[in-house]
Amino acid sequence: MNKKMTINSIKKSKGVQPLVMITAYDALFAKLLEPSADMILVGDSLNMSFAGKGDTLSSTMEQMLYHTVAVCNGAKNSFVICDMPFGTYTDKNIALENSLRVFRETNADCVKIEGGEEKADIVRHLVSNSIAVCGHIGLLPQSVRSEGGYKVKGKTKDEEIQLIKDAKAIEDAGAFCMVIEGVKADVASKVAASVDIPLIGIGAGKDVDGQVLVFSDMLGLFEEFTPKFVKKYIDGASLVKDAVENYADEVKSKEFPKEEHTY
Ligand code: KIV
Repeated sequence: MNKKMTINSIKKSKGVQPLVMITAYDALFAKLLEPSADMILVGDSLNMSFAGKGDTLSSTMEQMLYHTVAVCNGAKNSFVICDMPFGTYTDKNIALENSLRVFRETNADCVKIEGGEEKADIVRHLVSNSIAVCGHIGLLPQSVRSEGGYKVKGKTKDEEIQLIKDAKAIEDAGAFCMVIEGVKADVASKVAASVDIPLIGIGAGKDVDGQVLVFSDMLGLFEEFTPKFVKKYIDGASLVKDAVENYADEVKSKEFPKEEHTY
């Protein structure tokens, strides 16, 4: 069994070994993913792939707490990150109140919040109250409506400067690592080099300190759309559909259950 990561071992991985982060939303998959993942993220992406919503904005604290408890139950030896839903960290006090719920009601090791410089004071407040924080900069899915879509960042010099400011501000505020999403690869590489904590990329090229993918994307289970940065390691949707079709045929033909499945 691999040794469970801690915020210290995660920080020390920078420049040594790329970190593997993957999302999970339930105990069943968390257990399957645990042996290969350094960190498991209970992402609010579950609102889309699990709850069938169009974006992450309607995700709730109750939903995230429920799924985080399930993931922690399934992956007892994993470093688990609970994504803070939209609107649950709008100021320092609200952020602390909701993050305390995560620490009290689940076994998650940290919370993740989206935002750069403008969120630094909130990160600082959480860290000073013993809440470990993973940042999330670049393309921020919770800003999809206010930005009019999912916009790749780092396309202009101004954006590059801002991303470096964001990363430094979140690091200075006390975050132990950060997700960087949807950023031009050459810029993400400069942002990663500008801080001492690991930057975990998603759609940010390979010159960062690790990668994160949504499990249902990389297993080919989510069919609605496939972003450019996703690699499907198996065609999970076809495997599941074929298996269920096979089961349905065998039920109809009474080929299932056989003797060995019968009491
Ligand atoms: O919610 C999520 O799954 C995430 C990843 C895309 C990093 O935040």
